[in-house]
Amino acid sequence: MNLKIVILAAGKGTRMRSNLPKVLHKLAHKPLVEHVINTAQALSPEQIVVVYGHGGEIVPDTLKHLNVEWAEQAEQLGTGHAVEQGMVNIKQDGMVLVLYGDVPLTCLDTLKHLLDVGSKENCMGLLTACLPDPTGYGRIVRNTSGVVQKIVEQKDATDAQKEISEINSGILCADAKQLRSWLIKLENENAQGEFYLTDVIEMAVNDGLTVETVSATSHWEIDGVNNKQQLAGLERQYQRNIAIKLMEDGVMLRDPSRIDVRGTLNTGQDVILDINTVFEGDVNLGNNVNIGANCILKDAKVGDNVNILPNSIVDNAIIGNQCEIGPFARIRPDTCLADNVKIGNFVEVKKSTIADGSKVNHLSYIGDTNMGKDVNIGAGTITCNYDGANKSVTEIGDNVFVGSNSQLVAPVKIADGATIGAGSTITKDVQGAELALSRAKQTTISSWTRPVKKPK
Ligand code: UD1
Ligand code: CA
Repeated sequence: MNLKIVILAAGKGTRMRSNLPKVLHKLAHKPLVEHVINTAQALSPEQIVVVYGHGGEIVPDTLKHLNVEWAEQAEQLGTGHAVEQGMVNIKQDGMVLVLYGDVPLTCLDTLKHLLDVGSKENCMGLLTACLPDPTGYGRIVRNTSGVVQKIVEQKDATDAQKEISEINSGILCADAKQLRSWLIKLENENAQGEFYLTDVIEMAVNDGLTVETVSATSHWEIDGVNNKQQLAGLERQYQRNIAIKLMEDGVMLRDPSRIDVRGTLNTGQDVILDINTVFEGDVNLGNNVNIGANCILKDAKVGDNVNILPNSIVDNAIIGNQCEIGPFARIRPDTCLADNVKIGNFVEVKKSTIADGSKVNHLSYIGDTNMGKDVNIGAGTITCNYDGANKSVTEIGDNVFVGSNSQLVAPVKIADGATIGAGSTITKDVQGAELALSRAKQTTISSWTRPVKKPK
């Protein structure tokens, strides 16, 4: 089809009451306009041009990782003027689709449908919706046979036209050459003194084209963000849509209104997510994964049959099969747990690998550590990995037993099968299957009397 997409993102967004340009405000941790760009990319167009203006280079700078072209609209003279700027470097053949950088939730299927009707012989396409309260929007004016004649803006509408409930979403598609020929003819003699994109509809009709409309399936598909309430409303809608999709995929959500996915979440079979679970970045969950209330998982890969108990955080880590994490555990970046590992309450693990079957059950800090198989780390064990200047590594072999309240002062190596007595501070390597103890010997004073409170 030779599709080109122009995304309008030059407006200020005064009602956001923020220094940040409106389209950079985030929905599900991603700038509004990035949602639109991603939808545009999914249509595999030849070109995507984003029209920016307010806030200057911040918008293209923030989004420089995206493969799009940028066109500056130095002065915001209206939507028609904005599209004209966006079309400067667009090839003349094929079709142009106009999207809005502050309308983040338009569905791919709706746009495909719009492109289908818009690319019929002698047609252009317009996305509309019928709203119970159309106030503020441009209205679709049809003749008595129901054929679209033009769009009138709220501020230019007669009282009778204000009664029309069918509104303009702003999203349209048209032949590139024709669209350009209409844009250069636009005038700004209207209530807002702007070059209205909407005026091209009447020009198309005058040129003998049929304006085919597609109705949005839901109003949120065409809802824009103008203030923080609308941003919060669309965030909830986005999360609702994801929750529905997850349930369709077989995930059990204890409460679909209390899950937040701010990235991509891939799930295996029989996954159960309790309330207030938050997923960020790329998270992959295997089969039979159970995640308790109030957990946050970010850029994590979780194997099969894993149980993550409430109030745990997993950040940038790999969790093997049959692991149990938490409650109240914190798994920090660059951690890799093999299968059957148990990390219990109030345990923090950072940049460490833990091999099959090892357990760190209570109140421990394991950092910069390579731990072997079937190790048991007693409560309150600390790997002292930082000397105030540098980080050092703790090596723990297979089958090691570390008694409670021990400190392993890195760099240090504990060989396979070694035992560390409770309360030890280990500063030297422990070789082979021996017992290392560094605590003070217990002494007993048999005739000891406890102090008593002095009389006042
Ligand atoms: C526009 C439509 C209206 C439609 C409504 C849907 C026109 C004249 N009116 O009105 O029919 O019902 O959208 O929300 O098109 N923008 C620029 N440069 C500009 C002006 C706007 O990039 O010079 C961008 C804005 O950043 C925004 C979008 O275009 O993303 C829409 O602009 P806005 O001023 O909100 O248009 P409305 O008056 O709401
Ligand atoms: Ca608007």
